[in-house]
Amino acid sequence: MQQFNRVVSFIIKYVYAFVSCCYLFLVGFIFSKNRFLINQICINFGLDIKRIRPMISKSKFSEIVNTQLPVKIIKGEGTDGNTSLFELLIINLFVKTFNPNSIFGIGTFDGRTTLNLAINSLPAAKIYTIDLPKADTIPPTLFVTPGDKKYIEKNVTGIRYHNKDEKVLPEKNKIIQLYGDTAKFNFNPYFNKINMVFVDAAHSYEYVLNDSKIALKLLKNGKGIILWHDYDVWDGVTQALNELQQQNSKFNSCFHIEGRV
Ligand SMILES: C[S@@+](CC[C@H](N)C(=O)[O-])C[C@H]1O[C@@H](n2cnc3c(N)ncnc32)[C@H](O)[C@@H]1O
Repeated sequence: MQQFNRVVSFIIKYVYAFVSCCYLFLVGFIFSKNRFLINQICINFGLDIKRIRPMISKSKFSEIVNTQLPVKIIKGEGTDGNTSLFELLIINLFVKTFNPNSIFGIGTFDGRTTLNLAINSLPAAKIYTIDLPKADTIPPTLFVTPGDKKYIEKNVTGIRYHNKDEKVLPEKNKIIQLYGDTAKFNFNPYFNKINMVFVDAAHSYEYVLNDSKIALKLLKNGKGIILWHDYDVWDGVTQALNELQQQNSKFNSCFHIEGRV
């Protein structure tokens, strides 16, 4: 009986997927979210012709950060949209090695990275983090890829540090949550004050260019650390950073950390 149920369930799914594919290829492709799906199908079957090739040279994280320093990882279990555990470890090692007094995270999401920045930084450090307010109130100004929408449409920004069990963490008080679209937000009060920036908001070429230029202006005297997430993962990130590194002398010294950060 169980075997029979499994077969019936598969037949239903097969027919549903078949009809959905007919719709996708005959009509649905006129919507951008469905074109994204066709792109994903091609990647799944090994055709990835539109990918932008990474041009920034690679470096080992162990040559940049002190890997002997103890780091704390909190809320390590990741969800779709977070950094990997390995990337989180490297970000935390950056904090431990360079001891920034002020950190700016562009793209809060559920706040997992923000919380980790808070618990690994100096007691007096401040962690600013920005995200869009609820999606239906402020739509982003620049182009957003269909793949970004599910992260934008999350229910609560910074949920990882809104949980009651985190109340006891004094480090939570270091976090200053800001809301706005990075293409319109008034960053003036923060320009020239920050020691480290983590860029991980919208992944379109337009937004990565915008956010990277903001990140540079945030740095105190133009000096400090900017980390980007998803280079060589999202085409928009790869293309924008390739271009910045080649065309803007301020970004000449960028490198691509092996293992993705
Ligand atoms: C991939 S998630 C960030 C993940 C997070 N950095 C982490 O490490 O867990 C991207 C976040 O950027 C936010 N975002 C996208 N476009 C934005 C914009 N124009 N301005 C501000 N935040 C934006 C999204 O709402 C989403 O929460």
